Amino acid sequence: MGQKKDPQDTCVLVTGGAGFIGSHTVVELLNSGYQVVIVDDLSNASEKVIGRIDTIVGEEAAKRLTFYKADVNDREAMEEIFSDNAIDRVIHFAGFKAVGESVQKPIEYYTNNLGNTLTLVDVMRNHGCKDIIFSSSATVYGRPDKLPLTEESPKKPATNPYGWTKWMIEQILTDLHTADPEWNVVLLRYFNPIGAHPSGLMGEDPKGIPNNLLPYVAQVAVGKREYVHVYGDDYDTPDGTGVRDYIHVCDLGTGHVAALKWMNGRTGVEIFNLGTGKGTSVLEIVKAFSKACGKELPYRIEPRRAGDVDANYADCSKAKREMGWEAKYTIDDMCRDSWNWQSKNPNGYEG
Ligand code: UFG
Repeated sequence: MGQKKDPQDTCVLVTGGAGFIGSHTVVELLNSGYQVVIVDDLSNASEKVIGRIDTIVGEEAAKRLTFYKADVNDREAMEEIFSDNAIDRVIHFAGFKAVGESVQKPIEYYTNNLGNTLTLVDVMRNHGCKDIIFSSSATVYGRPDKLPLTEESPKKPATNPYGWTKWMIEQILTDLHTADPEWNVVLLRYFNPIGAHPSGLMGEDPKGIPNNLLPYVAQVAVGKREYVHVYGDDYDTPDGTGVRDYIHVCDLGTGHVAALKWMNGRTGVEIFNLGTGKGTSVLEIVKAFSKACGKELPYRIEPRRAGDVDANYADCSKAKREMGWEAKYTIDDMCRDSWNWQSKNPNGYEG
C-alpha cells in the first residue's frame, strides 16, 4: 500500500506525459508540488513539450521534472526508471488512441495498449509500487440506456479495439486488486477532452487529418481545412447533431491531482467520471468556435459516422463529493484556449 505522503515527498511517474492530456496533467502536478517523472516514447508527441512545460511552470518547479524517452513496453528501460527514481504512484496515459485506426490495426492496438500496461504493473510490483491511476474513457459505457452516465452505469461492449483496450485494462487492474488487496487503483473515465493551456504554449497536435471534432474545427479556423463535416443532423438531440460532454484539458489535469490526493494512503479500486455534466451539440461547438476566432466557420451536414451515439454526458457528482473536484471551464473558455493554441501554433509543435 502507498504510504500517505505530502506532494513534495511524492514522486509520480506519468507514462505518456508528453501527450495531450499527459502534458497538461504534468503542469498541474508540478504546480501542486509533486516530483514528476515522464516516460514517453514520443511516438505521438513532441519532445518540445518538455520545454513548454518548463516555461509554463517556471525554473524552480521545472527542477522537479525528469524526462525519459522510452517505450513503456521496454521492460529494461522501465526497470531502470524504477531503480533510478523512488516512484510512489503512477498515472498511466501511454497508449494508442485513434478509434478508426484501431479497427484497421487491432493487433497493434492490443499488443501496445495491453502489453505496455502488463509490463508497467509487473515492474511496479517488482519495486513495491502499487498505486496507479488509469486513463480510461467514457467509451466503456458504450451506447447509454440512460443519461447522465454515473459510475454505476453498466459497462457495455466496446465498438472498436481502442475502446476494448480501455475496457480490458480496467478489468486487468481490478483483477490485480482482487489478487493483492494492497493495490490502489483509480480508474478515471474521461468524457471529451478539448481546449489547450491558456498560455497558448501547449495543446492538441494530431498527426494527419484529425478524427475528433475540436482539432478539426480548429484547423478549419486557421484555414488548413475547408469546412467542418457535421456527421448527422437526425440524432435524437435538440438540434439533431451529436451531443457530448466536452471538458477542458486543464480541468482534467486538476482532476488527476485531486485523484492523487484522494488515493493517498488508501487501497481499493475506485471509478470516477471526469466531465462537466453538460452536453453540447456539434452545431453549438461550431458556433462557439466561430465566436472565439471571430469568423463564421463553414460546415456541411453529412451522413452519420458509424458507431457514434446520439448523446453522452456525465454525472460528475461522485468526483465532487469524494475528491472535492469539479470542472471550472466553460465551452467558450475551451474554444478560446483551443483557438489561442491553434492560431499561435498552426502546425502544432513543429510549426
Ligand atoms: N463529429 C463531427 N465531425 C467531425 C468529428 C466529429 O460531426 O469531424 C461529431 C461526432 O459525430 C460526435 C462529436 O462530433 O457527435 C464528437 O466526436 P469526436 O470524434 O470528437 O469524439 P467522440 O465522442 O466520438 O470520441 C471521444 C474520444 C474517444 C472516446 C470517446 C468515448 O475521442 O477517445 O469520446 O467517450 F473513446
